[in-house]
Amino acid sequence: MNIPLRQLLTSEVLVNRKSRIFPLLAFAALGFSVMAMAASAIADKATVEVPYPENYRAWTHVKSMVIEPGHALHATFGGIHHLYANSKAIEGYRTGMWPDGAVITFDLLEAVSADHAVVEGKRKVLGVMHRDSKRFASTGGWGFEGFVADSKSQRAVGSNAATACFVCHQARKPQQYVFSSLRP
Ligand code: HEC
Repeated sequence: MNIPLRQLLTSEVLVNRKSRIFPLLAFAALGFSVMAMAASAIADKATVEVPYPENYRAWTHVKSMVIEPGHALHATFGGIHHLYANSKAIEGYRTGMWPDGAVITFDLLEAVSADHAVVEGKRKVLGVMHRDSKRFASTGGWGFEGFVADSKSQRAVGSNAATACFVCHQARKPQQYVFSSLRP
């Protein structure tokens, strides 16, 4: 057989290319799919976890309340709490419709009585309601979480939002599960 030199060269080049590039491509594809899997794992985690509400102390103060010994909720919520709302949550307080991205915090501190005054003590827990109607559809469109004391990562609620929080907030279904209102 007399194969022209040119053809031989090109076919050889092709073979070489194929054998070098295909494994490379396969490897790259595997790499991408591993990366995609990792990314979706991160996204999955984000879909169930309520993010820590950075900077919530700069949001709008909604109201405060002191829960004293003898109150039915003293065991869990005894102390002084302040509620804060981000701008989307303020929109919710005004319209009764809470857009996704609305976040309300329940900042619970010890209430210390001394010298005929009640003052703030240490933070007990930072309760959070984070509106995302799709991700938190099973708990009325709100993600519930409690960050222990001053921690930004220690979670008191986790996957127990339905029984620890929503069960009580459910009573406020007509108000989209929010108890408080914004005073003028
Ligand atoms: C036994 C009932 C009950 C349970 C359980 C409960 N809450 Fe509440 N929650 C309330 C009440 C009542 C208010 C209103 C407090 C006020 O007006 O100052 C409130 C208010 C809030 C608010 C402010 C927005 C609103 O609805 O007014 C947040 C945030 C919140 N709770 C988070 C949580 C989280 C997180 C949990 C679970 C760890 C939880 N709550 C469990 C009764 C409950």
